[in-house]
Amino acid sequence: MKAVLNILLFIVLSLFLLASENYGQMVKAGDNALGIFKYQDFSKANLCGSACHNDFFQQWKQSMMSQAYTHHWDEIEYFKLAVPHAEKDPVVAGVKAGCNGCHSPIAFLAGDVPPPTPDKMSMANESVNCDVCHTVTGFEGDTPFNFNFISSPGNVKYGPRENVDSPEHGVKKSDFLASAEFCGTCHNEKDPYGIWVKSTHLEWKEGPYSKQGVKCQTCHMTSSEGYTAAMGNKYSDARQHLFHGAHDPGKVKGTIELRIHPDINEAEPGERVKFTVALFNGKTGHKFPTGSVEDRIVWMHVEAVDAKGNVYHIPVDKKGFAGEEYTIGADALAYQDMGIALNDPNFKGVQRDGIPIGDRIFRMAYFDPQGRMTIQQWNTKSLGVDYRIGPRETKMETLTFSLPNNLPPGKLKVTAVLNYQKLVKPVADFLGVPEEESEIIKVNEHSTYVTILP
Ligand code: HEC
Ligand code: HEC
Ligand code: HEC
Ligand code: HEC
Repeated sequence: MKAVLNILLFIVLSLFLLASENYGQMVKAGDNALGIFKYQDFSKANLCGSACHNDFFQQWKQSMMSQAYTHHWDEIEYFKLAVPHAEKDPVVAGVKAGCNGCHSPIAFLAGDVPPPTPDKMSMANESVNCDVCHTVTGFEGDTPFNFNFISSPGNVKYGPRENVDSPEHGVKKSDFLASAEFCGTCHNEKDPYGIWVKSTHLEWKEGPYSKQGVKCQTCHMTSSEGYTAAMGNKYSDARQHLFHGAHDPGKVKGTIELRIHPDINEAEPGERVKFTVALFNGKTGHKFPTGSVEDRIVWMHVEAVDAKGNVYHIPVDKKGFAGEEYTIGADALAYQDMGIALNDPNFKGVQRDGIPIGDRIFRMAYFDPQGRMTIQQWNTKSLGVDYRIGPRETKMETLTFSLPNNLPPGKLKVTAVLNYQKLVKPVADFLGVPEEESEIIKVNEHSTYVTILP
């Protein structure tokens, strides 16, 4: 009897061990997937693109996906700031490997930490390539974030259609690939302090578009008639691999619509005129700006031009909410925590905004453990007020202009301009990031008029 029980116990235990071992293999995602594969387990993009998928390859090559590891600002931030910081501060030690879970997933899965610099032309330069995305089978847990996709490299490529034949590889249909959650595995990020420092997918999920079935792919991988492979079928809804975003001025322009109006149409010098601006976000599926919010700056500049051509800058009216000081252009220093990586613990910082003082900024500030504003999202311990423009949201701003006593009679033209910069200019200049990263993109503008009486 005892022997039988023992045997039974042995069988149950072995089954349990076997199951947990399989389970362990199945859920190797996120941080746990470091080094579970080899570089050679993945194909290079030009293998997919040279003969069969040339159009998708060319589209991908122009997008940031193909440059997520090699792009100048990524290289500077990773090698100049993140890696040295990770080597000094145990709290953020994990980012040395972790940045590449999203920026060069093949290097991460191959356990290459840190990978060779981009000039070495290693396989890490593949960034987010075809085989990264097309061998993903799902994600671990209930919220996609921090590269918790499950990777299964091999001959089978996952795609959106049933019954597809390829001479080169197996094809399996995957609904996951067509979901916003797939994108969310890299477009949501929680930092070592447990703060959501990137939440594009979460913003989309709580916004109006998710309820209407409008996904990331709808706007960033648009469908049109065409071929998906050189010798394949023609489809009415071939998924274009555009991935166009902040680095495509055409995508950013017009994202917000502006209308400005005065409270009175005629005024005398010395009077006060109140202008109201409505800013409507009709184009993004998430907040604007989203993604690398710590880097981005969106601001509204309002100017009046009188009948003689004199120009007056009109600062925005304060609303009085908590944390508002971070949403109005100021003469203030910030980003002192760059000094950690740069071996300058007494670093005074650089200008916080680099824009005209008094302009309204649509942003969410990130703060380091000392409470100073930071562009190092991995060193973020708290977030400021979220004053970005949500999907289909309209924000209202007012500006009160005390008309100068010497204002000439005639038309006063008042223009509101909304500007966008991918990287705050004082930071870009300080770190030597090429100018295209801090170029000013005009999102939109609108003008109104007031007649100045003699
Ligand atoms: C960031 C992830 C990502 C990358 C990188 C990527 N794809 Fe895709 N691809 C997708 C998604 C997602 C879909 C399906 C979209 C949908 O169904 O809405 C798709 C669809 C496809 C399809 C099927 C299109 C159709 O309409 O049937 C092909 C073929 C394809 N990709 C090839 C490639 C090739 C080749 C590359 C590299 C040059 C590549 N992909 C890079 C995510 C990616
Ligand atoms: C394996 C990780 C990963 C997945 C999965 C992924 N992305 Fe990305 N994506 C990135 C990274 C990393 C960047 C940033 C590239 C850079 O600027 O360095 C990026 C950038 C972008 C951009 C911004 C381009 C710009 O101009 O700033 C868009 C748009 C985008 N992705 C859309 C998508 C969509 C849509 C999906 C899902 C179909 C998706 N991504 C899935 C990693 C990923
Ligand atoms: C209704 C259309 C729409 C949908 C849906 C949408 N986007 Fe966007 N997205 C845009 C537009 C327009 C921009 C350009 C303006 C901007 O930078 O925000 C953009 C910009 C971006 C950027 C660059 C943002 C920046 O400031 O750096 C990323 C990354 C991105 N989208 C990813 C996604 C992901 C991931 C999803 C799904 C969770 C998604 N988008 C859903 C329209 C959309
Ligand atoms: C969870 C995935 C993820 C992790 C981890 C991650 N990133 Fe990113 N990173 C992204 C995505 C997605 C974008 C694009 C967002 C956008 O377009 O606004 C991005 C954008 C960037 C950009 C801006 C690119 C540009 O040209 O504007 C830099 C620089 C960057 N990441 C560096 C890093 C560094 C350094 C680390 C590690 C400390 C890191 N990232 C960790 C996903 C990630």
